[in-house]
Amino acid sequence: MRIRKAVFPVAGLGTRFLPATKASAKEMLPIVDKPLIQYAVQEAISAGAEELIFITGRSKNSIMDHFDKAYELEAELASRGKGKLLETVQEILPPGITCIFIRQAEALGLGHAVLCAWPAVGDEDFSVILADDLIDGRLRPCLAQMQRVYQEYGTSVIAVERVPQEDVSSYGIVETQPVGPGLGEIRRIVEKPKPAEATSNLAVVGRYILTPRIFKLLERTQRGAGGEIQLTDAISAMIQEQTVLAYEFEGTRYDCGSKLGYLKANVEYGLKHPELADGFREYLHDLTADWSQPAGEKVVKVAKK
Ligand code: UTP
Repeated sequence: MRIRKAVFPVAGLGTRFLPATKASAKEMLPIVDKPLIQYAVQEAISAGAEELIFITGRSKNSIMDHFDKAYELEAELASRGKGKLLETVQEILPPGITCIFIRQAEALGLGHAVLCAWPAVGDEDFSVILADDLIDGRLRPCLAQMQRVYQEYGTSVIAVERVPQEDVSSYGIVETQPVGPGLGEIRRIVEKPKPAEATSNLAVVGRYILTPRIFKLLERTQRGAGGEIQLTDAISAMIQEQTVLAYEFEGTRYDCGSKLGYLKANVEYGLKHPELADGFREYLHDLTADWSQPAGEKVVKVAKK
């Protein structure tokens, strides 16, 4: 039981990142030196995906280009003897992996984006990864952790994490019946509840393993929160028919759809980057030491660097 197909909805407008996302894709924003979508693709491949289905929109052609072969660039790097960089470019998509691009004509919501994947997914279980939720899965990538749960239970699995009560209105929130450590069966799921109405702080994050039943349910799903067709609403219908598990993954999630989450991810991945870690740590150390200085002096010292 392996999930062969992974869906990447990348057709959102990315309004929280305007103007950066006016003419280019949010998912192409780099975390140090790799775009968000590449981290997501690597996570899917490491969990066994062979077919990558991208749901794209306007201003997203760079995503297609990123995973395409770049003959001129490769020839140029080869002729300049830049073997290491050539390898870096060639490794973006390992052999044997297929990419499919489907256009979502209008950004009608995440649920609608997933529905657009139906012709390519067909009648098999599949995963969905939202690239703007970057997850450092510590010992094992988040989707690979979920795949283990899927192999044991053979049902839909959704990644969740606890969020502060005041943040529940930014997420799909689930109530669960415990099944095991960090694992529960979803009894109720609500998109963006008001903090006073939420009876749980267990939030859905951007990793899903779903059965194809979701497509039929999405077809019937009306516009919900924010006027969008919400995946959460279709999952709410699915729990009436099938078991859907909520899995509290091990690791750290960076909400790279928000500017603060994006900056945090860059700092933390920078501190782990083999080429940058030492120099960056030293820089941050000096910078934060400067913060303890009086304001006037601080400006002078930081400006000198
Ligand atoms: P978000 O809720 O982050 O929306 O979508 P967004 O448009 O990307 O960003 P903001 O909120 O305007 O800043 C969650 C995921 O669903 C995809 C997005 O690309 C993102 O990966 N999505 C959303 C679609 O593919 N299509 C849609 O119609 C909406």
